[in-house]
Amino acid sequence: MDSGKFPDSFAWGAATAAYQIEGGWDADGKGPNVWDTFTHQGGDRVYKNQTGDVACGSYTLWEEDLKCIKQLGLTHYRFSLSWSRLLPDGTTGFINQKGINYYNKLIDSLLEMSVTPLVTLYHFDLPQPVEDQGGWLSEKTVEIFEQYAEFCYATFGDRIKHWITINEPYFASRLSYESGIFPPGKELIGTGAYRAAHNMIKAHAKAWHIYNTSFKNKQQGRVSIALDSDWAEPLDPNSLADKEGTERYMHFRLHWFANPIFIDGDYPEIMKSIISQKSKEEGLTCSRLPEFTEEEKAMIKGTADFFCLNYYTTRKVKTLSSETLPSKRYGNSDMGAEGITEPNWPIAGVEWLAVVPWGIRKLLAYIKHCFGNPEIFITENGFAQTDPPALQDVHRWGYFQETLMEVLKAIKQDGVNVKGYFAWSLLDNFEWSFGYSVRFGLFHVDFEQANLPRTPYYSANEYAKVVKGNELIYK
Ligand code: BGC
Repeated sequence: MDSGKFPDSFAWGAATAAYQIEGGWDADGKGPNVWDTFTHQGGDRVYKNQTGDVACGSYTLWEEDLKCIKQLGLTHYRFSLSWSRLLPDGTTGFINQKGINYYNKLIDSLLEMSVTPLVTLYHFDLPQPVEDQGGWLSEKTVEIFEQYAEFCYATFGDRIKHWITINEPYFASRLSYESGIFPPGKELIGTGAYRAAHNMIKAHAKAWHIYNTSFKNKQQGRVSIALDSDWAEPLDPNSLADKEGTERYMHFRLHWFANPIFIDGDYPEIMKSIISQKSKEEGLTCSRLPEFTEEEKAMIKGTADFFCLNYYTTRKVKTLSSETLPSKRYGNSDMGAEGITEPNWPIAGVEWLAVVPWGIRKLLAYIKHCFGNPEIFITENGFAQTDPPALQDVHRWGYFQETLMEVLKAIKQDGVNVKGYFAWSLLDNFEWSFGYSVRFGLFHVDFEQANLPRTPYYSANEYAKVVKGNELIYK
Protein backbone atom coordinates (compact mmCIF):
# COMPACT_ATOMS: atom_id res chain seq x y z
CA MET A 1 0.00 0.00 0.00
CA ASP A 2 1.48 3.35 -0.92
CA SER A 3 -1.42 5.71 -0.68
CA GLY A 4 -4.82 5.86 0.84
CA LYS A 5 -7.75 7.86 2.02
CA PHE A 6 -8.31 8.57 5.69
CA PRO A 7 -11.78 8.02 7.13
CA ASP A 8 -14.38 10.72 6.53
CA SER A 9 -14.30 13.53 9.07
CA PHE A 10 -10.82 12.58 10.22
CA ALA A 11 -9.48 15.37 12.45
CA TRP A 12 -6.37 17.02 11.01
CA GLY A 13 -4.60 19.21 13.48
CA ALA A 14 -1.46 20.68 14.90
CA ALA A 15 -0.68 21.20 18.57
CA THR A 16 0.99 23.81 20.75
CA ALA A 17 1.27 24.60 24.46
CA ALA A 18 0.88 27.95 26.19
CA TYR A 19 4.32 28.35 27.76
CA GLN A 20 6.03 27.17 24.60
CA ILE A 21 4.47 29.78 22.31
CA GLU A 22 2.70 32.62 24.11
CA GLY A 23 5.40 34.78 25.68
CA GLY A 24 3.81 37.75 27.46
CA TRP A 25 4.95 36.06 30.63
CA ASP A 26 3.87 38.95 32.87
CA ALA A 27 1.55 40.78 30.49
CA ASP A 28 -1.86 42.07 31.56
CA GLY A 29 -1.90 40.56 35.01
CA LYS A 30 -0.62 37.06 34.29
CA GLY A 31 0.83 35.41 37.39
CA PRO A 32 4.13 33.53 37.44
CA ASN A 33 4.25 29.81 36.76
CA VAL A 34 6.95 27.29 37.53
CA TRP A 35 8.60 27.68 34.14
CA ASP A 36 8.84 31.46 34.60
CA THR A 37 10.57 30.90 37.92
CA PHE A 38 12.83 28.11 36.70
CA THR A 39 14.03 29.90 33.57
CA HIS A 40 14.55 33.19 35.43
CA GLN A 41 16.75 31.45 37.97
CA GLY A 42 19.25 30.53 35.25
CA GLY A 43 21.73 27.89 36.31
CA ASP A 44 22.15 26.29 32.89
CA ARG A 45 19.20 23.96 33.28
CA VAL A 46 17.86 25.23 29.99
CA TYR A 47 19.93 25.58 26.82
CA LYS A 48 21.78 28.92 27.02
CA ASN A 49 19.47 29.88 29.88
CA GLN A 50 16.77 30.71 27.37
CA THR A 51 13.26 31.52 28.58
CA GLY A 52 9.67 31.53 27.33
CA ASP A 53 9.34 35.25 28.19
CA VAL A 54 8.76 36.07 24.53
CA ALA A 55 8.72 32.67 22.78
CA CYS A 56 6.65 32.92 19.56
CA GLY A 57 4.88 35.98 20.93
CA SER A 58 1.53 34.30 20.39
CA TYR A 59 -0.05 36.33 23.18
CA THR A 60 0.05 39.30 20.82
CA LEU A 61 0.71 37.57 17.48
CA TRP A 62 -2.08 35.01 17.72
CA GLU A 63 -3.55 36.21 14.44
CA GLU A 64 -0.31 35.17 12.77
CA ASP A 65 -0.86 31.69 14.21
CA LEU A 66 -4.35 31.67 12.74
CA LYS A 67 -2.86 32.43 9.34
CA CYS A 68 -0.62 29.39 9.69
CA ILE A 69 -3.58 27.24 10.68
CA LYS A 70 -5.49 28.51 7.68
CA GLN A 71 -2.58 27.88 5.36
CA LEU A 72 -2.46 24.27 6.55
CA GLY A 73 -6.22 23.95 6.13
CA LEU A 74 -6.49 22.30 9.55
CA THR A 75 -9.82 21.07 10.79
CA HIS A 76 -8.65 21.07 14.44
CA TYR A 77 -6.17 22.97 16.59
CA ARG A 78 -4.88 21.79 19.96
CA PHE A 79 -3.58 24.46 22.33
CA SER A 80 -3.29 24.80 26.09
CA LEU A 81 -4.57 27.43 28.47
CA SER A 82 -2.04 29.19 30.62
CA TRP A 83 -3.46 28.53 34.06
CA SER A 84 -1.69 31.50 35.64
CA ARG A 85 -2.83 33.84 32.86
CA LEU A 86 -6.41 33.05 33.83
CA LEU A 87 -5.96 32.60 37.57
CA PRO A 88 -2.79 34.47 38.56
CA ASP A 89 -2.39 32.71 41.91
CA GLY A 90 -3.81 29.43 40.60
CA THR A 91 -7.08 29.75 42.50
CA THR A 92 -10.44 31.18 41.55
CA GLY A 93 -9.96 33.76 44.33
CA PHE A 94 -8.80 36.18 41.66
CA ILE A 95 -9.74 35.95 38.01
CA ASN A 96 -7.82 37.79 35.31
CA GLN A 97 -10.40 39.05 32.83
CA LYS A 98 -7.69 39.96 30.32
CA GLY A 99 -6.61 36.35 30.23
CA ILE A 100 -10.19 35.30 29.55
CA ASN A 101 -10.43 37.91 26.79
CA TYR A 102 -7.31 36.52 25.14
CA TYR A 103 -8.63 32.97 24.92
CA ASN A 104 -12.10 34.16 23.93
CA LYS A 105 -10.61 35.95 20.93
CA LEU A 106 -8.61 32.89 19.98
CA ILE A 107 -11.50 30.45 20.38
CA ASP A 108 -14.03 32.64 18.61
CA SER A 109 -11.68 33.22 15.69
CA LEU A 110 -10.96 29.50 15.35
CA LEU A 111 -14.67 28.75 15.30
CA GLU A 112 -15.24 31.47 12.71
CA MET A 113 -12.67 29.67 10.56
CA SER A 114 -14.47 26.36 11.19
CA VAL A 115 -11.49 25.00 13.09
CA THR A 116 -12.41 22.87 16.10
CA PRO A 117 -10.37 23.66 19.21
CA LEU A 118 -9.05 20.91 21.48
CA VAL A 119 -8.05 22.51 24.74
CA THR A 120 -5.49 21.25 27.25
CA LEU A 121 -5.96 22.62 30.75
CA TYR A 122 -2.48 21.89 32.01
CA HIS A 123 0.66 21.48 29.92
CA PHE A 124 3.57 21.57 32.42
CA ASP A 125 3.02 25.20 33.58
CA LEU A 126 1.80 25.00 37.17
CA PRO A 127 1.14 28.41 38.76
CA GLN A 128 4.06 29.17 41.08
CA PRO A 129 1.83 29.79 44.13
CA VAL A 130 0.36 26.29 43.68
CA GLU A 131 3.86 24.85 43.53
CA ASP A 132 4.74 26.81 46.65
CA GLN A 133 2.00 24.96 48.49
CA GLY A 134 3.55 21.63 47.55
CA GLY A 135 2.63 21.42 43.87
CA TRP A 136 1.72 17.99 42.60
CA LEU A 137 3.24 16.39 45.68
CA SER A 138 0.38 17.84 47.69
CA GLU A 139 -3.13 16.47 47.84
CA LYS A 140 -4.35 20.10 47.98
CA THR A 141 -3.50 20.50 44.30
CA VAL A 142 -6.18 17.95 43.41
CA GLU A 143 -8.89 20.28 44.63
CA ILE A 144 -7.24 23.41 43.23
CA PHE A 145 -7.06 21.73 39.82
CA GLU A 146 -10.68 20.65 40.01
CA GLN A 147 -11.72 24.26 40.67
CA TYR A 148 -9.56 25.50 37.81
CA ALA A 149 -11.13 22.92 35.48
CA GLU A 150 -14.62 23.90 36.61
CA PHE A 151 -13.81 27.55 35.98
CA CYS A 152 -12.58 26.73 32.44
CA TYR A 153 -15.66 24.67 31.60
CA ALA A 154 -17.92 27.46 32.88
CA THR A 155 -15.99 30.13 30.96
CA PHE A 156 -15.22 28.43 27.64
CA GLY A 157 -17.32 25.28 27.61
CA ASP A 158 -20.12 26.83 25.59
CA ARG A 159 -17.66 26.65 22.68
CA ILE A 160 -15.08 24.00 23.64
CA LYS A 161 -16.25 20.43 23.19
CA HIS A 162 -12.95 18.56 23.53
CA TRP A 163 -11.02 18.92 26.77
CA ILE A 164 -7.71 17.40 27.79
CA THR A 165 -7.09 17.75 31.50
CA ILE A 166 -3.37 17.03 31.83
CA ASN A 167 -0.68 16.66 29.21
CA GLU A 168 1.66 13.71 29.69
CA PRO A 169 1.46 12.95 33.39
CA TYR A 170 4.38 10.55 32.86
CA PHE A 171 6.82 13.32 31.99
CA ALA A 172 5.11 15.92 34.15
CA SER A 173 5.71 13.74 37.20
CA ARG A 174 9.07 12.14 36.35
CA LEU A 175 10.89 15.18 35.04
CA SER A 176 9.58 17.59 37.67
CA TYR A 177 9.72 15.54 40.84
CA GLU A 178 12.21 12.76 40.20
CA SER A 179 14.96 13.65 37.73
CA GLY A 180 14.56 17.37 38.44
CA ILE A 181 15.09 18.31 34.79
CA PHE A 182 11.83 20.31 34.75
CA PRO A 183 10.68 22.75 37.42
CA PRO A 184 10.48 22.66 40.36
CA GLY A 185 13.67 20.61 39.83
CA LYS A 186 13.00 18.20 42.68
CA GLU A 187 15.07 15.02 42.78
CA LEU A 188 12.96 12.79 44.97
CA ILE A 189 14.35 9.55 43.70
CA GLY A 190 12.03 6.59 43.95
CA THR A 191 9.11 8.53 45.44
CA GLY A 192 8.55 11.95 43.83
CA ALA A 193 7.15 10.80 40.50
CA TYR A 194 4.83 8.24 42.11
CA ARG A 195 3.42 10.80 44.54
CA ALA A 196 3.00 13.50 41.88
CA ALA A 197 1.40 11.08 39.44
CA HIS A 198 -0.97 9.87 42.15
CA ASN A 199 -2.31 13.38 42.63
CA MET A 200 -2.42 14.05 38.89
CA ILE A 201 -4.57 10.97 38.32
CA LYS A 202 -6.94 12.03 41.09
CA ALA A 203 -7.03 15.61 39.79
CA HIS A 204 -7.80 14.38 36.29
CA ALA A 205 -10.60 12.14 37.58
CA LYS A 206 -12.15 14.94 39.63
CA ALA A 207 -12.00 17.26 36.62
CA TRP A 208 -13.74 14.59 34.51
CA HIS A 209 -16.46 14.15 37.15
CA ILE A 210 -17.21 17.81 37.59
CA TYR A 211 -17.71 18.04 33.83
CA ASN A 212 -19.83 14.96 33.78
CA THR A 213 -22.12 16.05 36.58
CA SER A 214 -22.34 19.80 36.06
CA PHE A 215 -21.64 20.56 32.39
CA LYS A 216 -22.01 17.59 30.11
CA ASN A 217 -25.76 17.71 29.73
CA LYS A 218 -25.78 21.30 28.67
CA GLN A 219 -22.45 21.56 26.84
CA GLN A 220 -22.30 18.12 25.24
CA GLY A 221 -18.51 17.97 25.27
CA ARG A 222 -15.98 15.28 26.16
CA VAL A 223 -13.01 15.09 28.49
CA SER A 224 -9.81 13.06 28.34
CA ILE A 225 -6.11 13.12 29.32
CA ALA A 226 -3.10 13.04 26.96
CA LEU A 227 -0.91 10.01 27.63
CA ASP A 228 2.50 9.71 26.05
CA SER A 229 4.07 6.39 25.35
CA ASP A 230 6.88 4.77 23.46
CA TRP A 231 6.32 1.48 21.75
CA ALA A 232 8.68 -1.17 23.13
CA GLU A 233 9.97 -4.53 21.95
CA PRO A 234 12.47 -6.99 23.46
CA LEU A 235 16.07 -6.35 22.44
CA ASP A 236 16.52 -10.09 22.05
CA PRO A 237 13.18 -11.49 20.86
CA ASN A 238 14.23 -14.96 22.01
CA SER A 239 15.06 -13.90 25.53
CA LEU A 240 12.33 -14.46 28.08
CA ALA A 241 14.02 -11.95 30.37
CA ASP A 242 13.85 -9.24 27.68
CA LYS A 243 10.24 -10.11 26.92
CA GLU A 244 9.34 -9.72 30.57
CA GLY A 245 11.39 -6.53 30.71
CA THR A 246 9.37 -5.19 27.78
CA GLU A 247 6.14 -5.96 29.56
CA ARG A 248 7.41 -4.07 32.59
CA TYR A 249 8.53 -1.20 30.36
CA MET A 250 5.05 -0.77 28.89
CA HIS A 251 3.50 -0.97 32.33
CA PHE A 252 5.75 1.61 33.92
CA ARG A 253 5.27 3.88 30.88
CA LEU A 254 1.66 3.60 29.71
CA HIS A 255 -0.35 1.32 31.98
CA TRP A 256 0.72 3.33 35.07
CA PHE A 257 -1.87 5.92 33.96
CA ALA A 258 -4.02 4.08 31.45
CA ASN A 259 -4.98 1.19 33.75
CA PRO A 260 -6.49 3.36 36.48
CA ILE A 261 -8.30 5.60 34.01
CA PHE A 262 -9.37 3.12 31.31
CA ILE A 263 -9.55 -0.20 33.16
CA ASP A 264 -10.13 -0.56 36.87
CA GLY A 265 -9.23 2.55 38.84
CA ASP A 266 -5.97 1.06 40.05
CA TYR A 267 -2.29 0.75 39.17
CA PRO A 268 -1.17 -2.35 37.28
CA GLU A 269 -0.47 -5.39 39.47
CA ILE A 270 3.04 -5.60 38.08
CA MET A 271 3.92 -2.11 39.36
CA LYS A 272 2.25 -2.65 42.70
CA SER A 273 4.04 -5.91 43.41
CA ILE A 274 7.51 -4.84 42.23
CA ILE A 275 7.51 -1.51 44.07
CA SER A 276 6.04 -2.97 47.23
CA GLN A 277 8.61 -5.78 47.26
CA LYS A 278 11.48 -3.37 46.71
CA SER A 279 10.17 -1.02 49.37
CA LYS A 280 10.15 -3.92 51.84
CA GLU A 281 13.71 -4.81 50.93
CA GLU A 282 14.65 -1.20 51.56
CA GLY A 283 13.23 -1.47 55.06
CA LEU A 284 10.25 0.80 54.40
CA THR A 285 6.99 0.15 56.21
CA CYS A 286 4.83 0.87 53.18
CA SER A 287 5.25 0.87 49.43
CA ARG A 288 6.80 3.86 47.69
CA LEU A 289 3.87 3.59 45.25
CA PRO A 290 0.90 5.21 47.00
CA GLU A 291 -2.38 3.30 47.15
CA PHE A 292 -5.80 4.43 46.02
CA THR A 293 -8.67 3.84 48.46
CA GLU A 294 -11.61 1.78 47.19
CA GLU A 295 -13.62 4.97 46.92
CA GLU A 296 -10.87 6.61 44.86
CA LYS A 297 -10.63 3.61 42.56
CA ALA A 298 -14.34 3.84 41.84
CA MET A 299 -13.95 7.58 41.27
CA ILE A 300 -11.01 7.16 38.83
CA LYS A 301 -12.25 4.23 36.75
CA GLY A 302 -13.69 5.17 33.38
CA THR A 303 -12.78 8.86 33.45
CA ALA A 304 -11.85 9.39 29.80
CA ASP A 305 -14.28 9.79 26.92
CA PHE A 306 -11.63 9.09 24.28
CA PHE A 307 -7.94 8.16 24.22
CA CYS A 308 -5.32 10.85 23.53
CA LEU A 309 -1.95 9.45 22.54
CA ASN A 310 1.30 11.37 22.18
CA TYR A 311 3.73 9.14 20.28
CA TYR A 312 7.29 10.00 19.35
CA THR A 313 9.54 6.97 19.45
CA THR A 314 10.21 3.29 20.11
CA ARG A 315 12.72 1.45 22.27
CA LYS A 316 14.26 -2.00 22.36
CA VAL A 317 14.18 -3.26 25.90
CA LYS A 318 16.88 -5.07 27.77
CA THR A 319 16.25 -6.53 31.19
CA LEU A 320 18.68 -5.34 33.82
CA SER A 321 20.08 -7.83 36.28
CA SER A 322 20.70 -6.90 39.90
CA GLU A 323 24.36 -6.17 39.00
CA THR A 324 23.49 -3.86 36.12
CA LEU A 325 20.71 -1.97 37.90
CA PRO A 326 21.45 1.72 38.25
CA SER A 327 22.16 2.78 41.82
CA LYS A 328 19.64 5.61 41.60
CA ARG A 329 16.11 4.37 41.92
CA TYR A 330 14.19 6.16 39.23
CA GLY A 331 12.91 4.76 35.97
CA ASN A 332 15.07 1.82 35.11
CA SER A 333 15.61 0.65 38.62
CA ASP A 334 12.05 -0.24 39.72
CA MET A 335 11.20 -1.38 36.23
CA GLY A 336 14.38 -3.51 36.05
CA ALA A 337 14.81 -2.78 32.37
CA GLU A 338 16.30 -0.25 30.06
CA GLY A 339 15.11 1.13 26.72
CA ILE A 340 17.69 1.17 23.98
CA THR A 341 17.79 2.85 20.59
CA GLU A 342 18.85 0.69 17.64
CA PRO A 343 21.93 2.19 15.99
CA ASN A 344 20.33 2.07 12.52
CA TRP A 345 17.30 4.14 13.52
CA PRO A 346 17.60 7.71 12.23
CA ILE A 347 17.58 10.44 14.86
CA ALA A 348 15.33 13.46 14.27
CA GLY A 349 16.97 16.57 15.69
CA VAL A 350 17.24 15.56 19.32
CA GLU A 351 19.02 12.55 20.70
CA TRP A 352 16.00 10.83 22.28
CA LEU A 353 13.95 10.95 19.10
CA ALA A 354 14.74 7.81 17.13
CA VAL A 355 12.49 7.68 14.10
CA VAL A 356 10.48 4.46 14.18
CA PRO A 357 7.28 4.91 12.16
CA TRP A 358 6.17 1.27 12.50
CA GLY A 359 6.14 1.71 16.28
CA ILE A 360 3.03 3.87 16.11
CA ARG A 361 1.07 1.18 14.28
CA LYS A 362 1.99 -1.44 16.86
CA LEU A 363 1.23 0.89 19.73
CA LEU A 364 -2.16 1.81 18.29
CA ALA A 365 -3.10 -1.85 17.90
CA TYR A 366 -1.87 -2.49 21.46
CA ILE A 367 -4.04 0.32 22.84
CA LYS A 368 -7.01 -1.04 20.94
CA HIS A 369 -6.40 -4.45 22.46
CA CYS A 370 -5.65 -3.40 26.05
CA PHE A 371 -8.11 -0.58 26.56
CA GLY A 372 -11.32 -1.72 24.90
CA ASN A 373 -10.99 -0.33 21.41
CA PRO A 374 -11.35 3.34 22.35
CA GLU A 375 -11.60 6.26 19.95
CA ILE A 376 -8.03 7.46 19.65
CA PHE A 377 -6.75 10.91 18.81
CA ILE A 378 -3.02 11.11 18.18
CA THR A 379 -2.66 14.40 20.01
CA GLU A 380 1.08 14.75 19.35
CA ASN A 381 3.60 13.31 16.95
CA GLY A 382 6.50 15.04 15.31
CA PHE A 383 10.12 15.29 14.31
CA ALA A 384 12.62 17.98 15.11
CA GLN A 385 15.42 19.73 13.35
CA THR A 386 18.40 21.22 15.06
CA ASP A 387 19.15 24.88 14.77
CA PRO A 388 19.73 26.22 12.12
CA PRO A 389 16.94 24.25 10.47
CA ALA A 390 16.47 23.71 6.74
CA LEU A 391 13.34 25.27 5.29
CA GLN A 392 13.43 22.51 2.67
CA ASP A 393 13.01 19.78 5.28
CA VAL A 394 12.38 17.07 2.70
CA HIS A 395 13.82 14.42 4.96
CA ARG A 396 11.59 15.34 7.84
CA TRP A 397 8.53 15.23 5.64
CA GLY A 398 9.59 11.69 4.75
CA TYR A 399 9.32 10.79 8.47
CA PHE A 400 5.85 12.32 8.66
CA GLN A 401 4.77 10.43 5.55
CA GLU A 402 6.03 7.10 6.81
CA THR A 403 4.33 7.66 10.14
CA LEU A 404 1.03 8.67 8.55
CA MET A 405 1.22 5.58 6.37
CA GLU A 406 1.52 3.45 9.51
CA VAL A 407 -1.45 5.27 11.04
CA LEU A 408 -3.42 4.49 7.92
CA LYS A 409 -2.47 0.81 8.14
CA ALA A 410 -3.55 0.78 11.79
CA ILE A 411 -6.94 2.14 10.74
CA LYS A 412 -7.49 0.06 7.62
CA GLN A 413 -5.73 -3.20 8.36
CA ASP A 414 -5.87 -3.41 12.14
CA GLY A 415 -9.25 -1.76 12.62
CA VAL A 416 -7.97 0.78 15.14
CA ASN A 417 -10.45 3.56 15.76
CA VAL A 418 -8.13 6.52 15.09
CA LYS A 419 -10.12 9.72 14.82
CA GLY A 420 -7.45 12.32 14.30
CA TYR A 421 -3.81 13.29 14.05
CA PHE A 422 -2.14 16.39 15.50
CA ALA A 423 1.34 17.25 14.35
CA TRP A 424 3.66 18.59 17.01
CA SER A 425 3.98 21.44 16.49
CA LEU A 426 2.33 24.27 14.60
CA LEU A 427 5.37 26.48 15.20
CA ASP A 428 8.98 26.22 16.21
CA ASN A 429 8.82 27.02 19.90
CA PHE A 430 10.43 26.84 23.33
CA GLU A 431 11.38 23.18 23.54
CA TRP A 432 11.69 23.06 27.35
CA SER A 433 15.25 22.22 28.43
CA PHE A 434 16.44 22.50 24.84
CA GLY A 435 15.24 26.10 24.55
CA TYR A 436 15.04 27.20 20.92
CA SER A 437 17.80 24.87 19.74
CA VAL A 438 15.39 22.09 18.78
CA ARG A 439 12.72 22.94 16.23
CA PHE A 440 9.54 20.93 15.92
CA GLY A 441 7.48 23.46 13.96
CA LEU A 442 5.64 23.06 10.70
CA PHE A 443 6.32 26.78 10.53
CA HIS A 444 9.75 28.24 11.05
CA VAL A 445 9.90 31.11 13.54
CA ASP A 446 12.72 33.63 13.23
CA PHE A 447 13.45 34.30 16.88
CA GLU A 448 16.08 36.90 15.96
CA GLN A 449 13.55 39.29 14.51
CA ALA A 450 11.31 41.39 16.72
CA ASN A 451 8.18 40.52 14.76
CA LEU A 452 8.94 36.78 15.00
CA PRO A 453 7.96 35.97 11.41
CA ARG A 454 6.50 32.56 10.63
CA THR A 455 7.53 30.82 7.39
CA PRO A 456 6.24 27.43 6.26
CA TYR A 457 8.69 24.58 6.01
CA TYR A 458 8.42 22.21 3.06
CA SER A 459 6.68 19.86 5.53
CA ALA A 460 3.93 22.41 6.11
CA ASN A 461 3.15 22.66 2.41
CA GLU A 462 3.11 18.89 2.06
CA TYR A 463 1.01 18.41 5.20
CA ALA A 464 -1.52 20.91 3.80
CA LYS A 465 -1.91 18.67 0.73
CA VAL A 466 -2.64 15.64 2.91
CA VAL A 467 -5.15 17.61 4.96
CA LYS A 468 -6.86 18.95 1.87
CA GLY A 469 -7.22 15.57 0.17
CA ASN A 470 -7.76 13.64 3.42
CA GLU A 471 -5.36 11.32 1.70
CA LEU A 472 -1.75 10.28 1.81
CA ILE A 473 -0.01 9.80 -1.47
CA TYR A 474 3.28 8.18 -0.70
CA LYS A 475 5.77 7.13 -3.29
C1 BGC B 1 5.40 17.57 25.00
C2 BGC B 1 5.68 18.83 24.20
C3 BGC B 1 7.10 18.77 23.68
C4 BGC B 1 7.21 17.58 22.76
C5 BGC B 1 8.57 17.39 22.10
C6 BGC B 1 5.92 16.32 24.38
O1 BGC B 1 6.46 15.53 25.38
O2 BGC B 1 4.03 17.48 25.28
O3 BGC B 1 5.47 19.93 25.03
O4 BGC B 1 7.51 19.95 23.07
O5 BGC B 1 6.95 16.41 23.49
O6 BGC B 1 9.56 17.13 23.05
